[in-house]
Amino acid sequence: LFVGLIYNQNSYEKMHQLAKEFLLPLFEQPEEPGIYLACENDRLCLLDNTKKPLMKLHLDFAHGRLGYRLKGSGSEDLLKAIGKLPDEAVILDATMGFAEDTLLLAKTGKRLIACEQDPVVFLLVREALQLSPVENLQIQYGNAIDLMPSCHADVIYLDPMFLRKIKAKEKKEIQFLQQIVGPATPAEDLLKAALDHAKMKVVVKRASKAAPISGPKPSYQIEGKSVRFDVYRVD
Ligand SMILES: C[S@@+](CC[C@H](N)C(=O)[O-])C[C@H]1O[C@@H](n2cnc3c(N)ncnc32)[C@H](O)[C@@H]1O
Repeated sequence: LFVGLIYNQNSYEKMHQLAKEFLLPLFEQPEEPGIYLACENDRLCLLDNTKKPLMKLHLDFAHGRLGYRLKGSGSEDLLKAIGKLPDEAVILDATMGFAEDTLLLAKTGKRLIACEQDPVVFLLVREALQLSPVENLQIQYGNAIDLMPSCHADVIYLDPMFLRKIKAKEKKEIQFLQQIVGPATPAEDLLKAALDHAKMKVVVKRASKAAPISGPKPSYQIEGKSVRFDVYRVD
């Protein structure tokens, strides 16, 4: 799928800088069907002109569904799977996506590193975080497998792409994610690298009916309605 950046008079400098930094092509108008990042009222916005009508997405952690989850207090299975950790523990969210799980993980209050290899996804999250900062979170652009050795994480969390029934409300974000993100790293490779580098455990999100990732068996599982967390103890 074609991916590019769009500039206008007001945003030329910002978009030119991003094009250089992330090696993305820059245009004044969308040229071919694809996904574009543009700047509207000083904010990055994702445009999808492969569909009619044109789809638009802003990422906003302070309002709407993601904002709600950030402030929510329900006991979430993900946090159960992460479990109690020492104060100084470091969590690595290796597959950040639009950071919904990242924001939940931030609630642990532990040091959190999240990485994403897709430039468009990374840029949208980076900007949303500038508007709604999360103190204990640091985000990194790149392939998690390359970043793992320097993160010294106690817990590594993986949510490799999987197709599951999507809720009407999250449709737009997930549709975008599935479209713009190229072939993901095979889940087996991510798991193997995570098991080599996590000091305490690796937590993997799976569709509830899916088999665990092939490789070593999980130590235990936390079953939810539509998703399951497979926990691999490392120590
Ligand atoms: C299913 S999505 C994650 C959704 C995320 N857990 C959330 O709550 O929004 C998977 C994401 O991982 C990214 N990804 C896949 N393999 C990766 C890798 N090796 N390094 C970094 N990011 C990766 C994809 O680009 C995609 O954005």
